Amino acid sequence: MSSELRGLAGKRVLITGGGKGQGANHARAFAAAGCDVAVLDIDHDINNIYPLSTAAMIAETVKEIESCGRQAVGVVADLRDELAVKKAIDEVIGRLGQIDIVVNNAGVAALDTIHDMRSDVMNAVIDTNLKGAMHVAKYTVGPMIGRYLNGEESGKIINIASAVVGSGHAMLSHYVAAKHGVVGLTSAWAMELSEFNINVNAVCPGTIEPGAGRGSGMVQGLSAVMDMPPMEAFETFSAQGNMPGSKWRCTVQDITDMVLFLASDNARVITGAIIPVDGGQMAK
Ligand SMILES: NC(=O)c1ccc[n+]([C@@H]2O[C@H](COP(=O)([O-])OP(=O)(O)OC[C@H]3O[C@@H](n4cnc5c(N)ncnc54)[C@H](O)[C@@H]3O)[C@@H](O)[C@H]2O)c1
Repeated sequence: MSSELRGLAGKRVLITGGGKGQGANHARAFAAAGCDVAVLDIDHDINNIYPLSTAAMIAETVKEIESCGRQAVGVVADLRDELAVKKAIDEVIGRLGQIDIVVNNAGVAALDTIHDMRSDVMNAVIDTNLKGAMHVAKYTVGPMIGRYLNGEESGKIINIASAVVGSGHAMLSHYVAAKHGVVGLTSAWAMELSEFNINVNAVCPGTIEPGAGRGSGMVQGLSAVMDMPPMEAFETFSAQGNMPGSKWRCTVQDITDMVLFLASDNARVITGAIIPVDGGQMAK
C-alpha cells in the first residue's frame, strides 16, 4: 500500500482562522488534496491585539480554494460569540452538506505581566483560544455523532495548541493557560468521542516564521510590541526555545503537513495525541 496520504479527497473541512497565517495555508493544502473547505474567521481587529483577518483576506482564501476546483465557503464569526459561531456553522453545513474535519486553528496571543494584565486582553486570549474551540466543537460534534449512528464515517478534530505547553514562558500566562486548556480539551474530547469513531488530536507548533499581510501574524504582532523586527523576534524565540542549530526553525508548512497527516486515514488509530511540531522545544 502507498504511504501517501489517504482518504482526504472529497472530505469537507472547517478551518477556523483561515483568512491568513497557518489557517490559510492549511486551507490551500486541503483544497489541493481534493477537499472542500470552509473558513470561519473574524473580519475585524480585537482591541489591544495585533491585526487579524479582514473580509478581503477571507475572500482571498476562498478564491485560492476555488482555484483548486473545490467548493469553498467563507463565513465571518467572532469565536468568542457562541451564537455567531452556531450561525456560521449552520451556514457551512447548509452549503457543504456536512463537516468531516474540524481544524481549531484560530488564536491570539499578547504580552502582559501578571500584575498588570489587561482584563480585555486576558478575556480575548482565553475566550478565543479556549472557549472558541469549545463553541466550534459544540456545534460540529453532534452531526458527526449522528453520522456514526447512521453507519457512516464520523469525523476528526484537530486542535492547534502550542509548544508553550511544554515550558515556562514569562509575559504569556493568559496564552499559556489557554493552550494548556486546549490540551485538556483534546484528551477529554478524545475520551468522550472515541465510541463514535471520532479522532481528536492536538498539534503544538513551535515559534512560526512570521509574515506580513496574510502571513503568520502571531510573532509579527508580538514583535511590534517588543519594538523588534519580526525576523529578529522569530530568531530570538526560536534560538531560546528550540534545539540548537539553524535546522530547528518552524514554518507554516511544517504545521500544515502534520494537520493533513492527522486528517488523513494514515492517522486512523491516532487519537488523544498531543504532537509537538516545534524544533524540539517541548523536549528541552
Ligand atoms: N505563530 C506562532 O509562532 C505560533 C506558535 C504556536 C502556536 N500558534 C498557534 O497557531 C494558530 C495560528 O496562528 P498564526 O501564527 O497563523 O496567527 P495569525 O494571527 O496569522 O492567524 C490567526 C487567525 O485566527 C483568527 N482569529 C483570531 N481571533 C479570532 C476570533 N476571536 N474569532 C475568529 N477568528 C479569530 C485571525 O483572524 C487569524 O485569521 C493559533 O492558534 C496560534 O495560537 C502560533
